[in-house]
Amino acid sequence: MVSVVTSLTLQAAGAACVALANWPRGRRRAWSRFRPWDLLKARSISRRLSDGDSVLDVGCGTGHMLAQLALFKDIQPQGVEIALLPDRFHDIPMTTYDGRSLPFADGSFDATLVCYVLHHLEPPAAAALFAEIVRVTRRRIFLIEDSLPAFGALYRLRNRLHRIEAGLRYRDASGDYALPPDEAMFKTHTEWSAWLGRQPRVTSVAVESFADVAQHDHHTLFDVTLA
Ligand SMILES: C[S@@+](CC[C@H](N)C(=O)[O-])C[C@H]1O[C@@H](n2cnc3c(N)ncnc32)[C@H](O)[C@@H]1O
Repeated sequence: MVSVVTSLTLQAAGAACVALANWPRGRRRAWSRFRPWDLLKARSISRRLSDGDSVLDVGCGTGHMLAQLALFKDIQPQGVEIALLPDRFHDIPMTTYDGRSLPFADGSFDATLVCYVLHHLEPPAAAALFAEIVRVTRRRIFLIEDSLPAFGALYRLRNRLHRIEAGLRYRDASGDYALPPDEAMFKTHTEWSAWLGRQPRVTSVAVESFADVAQHDHHTLFDVTLA
């Protein structure tokens, strides 16, 4: 009994020391703005980058993925979007474009991310945007998509609902949406690998499921190497 009380007292005293040593904290922890599973995804991608790499994120949203990569690697980030969001990361350089022609010279970036964007586009618009991504990228493309080895019935329904929503939100930038909504750009691991393998300069495609680290099973990384 005495040893339990002593142990608890020592633990409480130690915790009080740590709390006092850390108070007041002038700045927030860098990672506290992010969700754990997004950090784990960024950690996985960052292992494939080198310090000093220039990295473009196409359809970057708030720019959170670039901000997270910058926690792990000393990258030169650049975001591009069809519209800038008010809650974006203001320390990430970001520009707008028409959703078709990337406003960068050939081979401007070591690596390009495109995360959860291509499934919003009609197939011809997706292929055209991917060709633009290849044009501005020197080495590596990281595609993150809603993809599984096979889609079950609930996922097939969800894909079509998501497609209708995307049609309403991104129609101007993303090509003409077919009705009824199809699942053309919701591909399985095998289908994405085959699609990517047919694109210009692509020499290899490695697939890493984020099922173990992401919030839901469908988050999948396709690591594309260019010639
Ligand atoms: C689901 S959000 C993903 C945002 C961000 N990539 C992320 O991982 O959080 C889809 C994004 O695609 C963008 N988008 C839609 N059509 C696009 C296009 N043609 N080119 C680039 N981005 C596009 C939207 O503005 C939106 O920010």
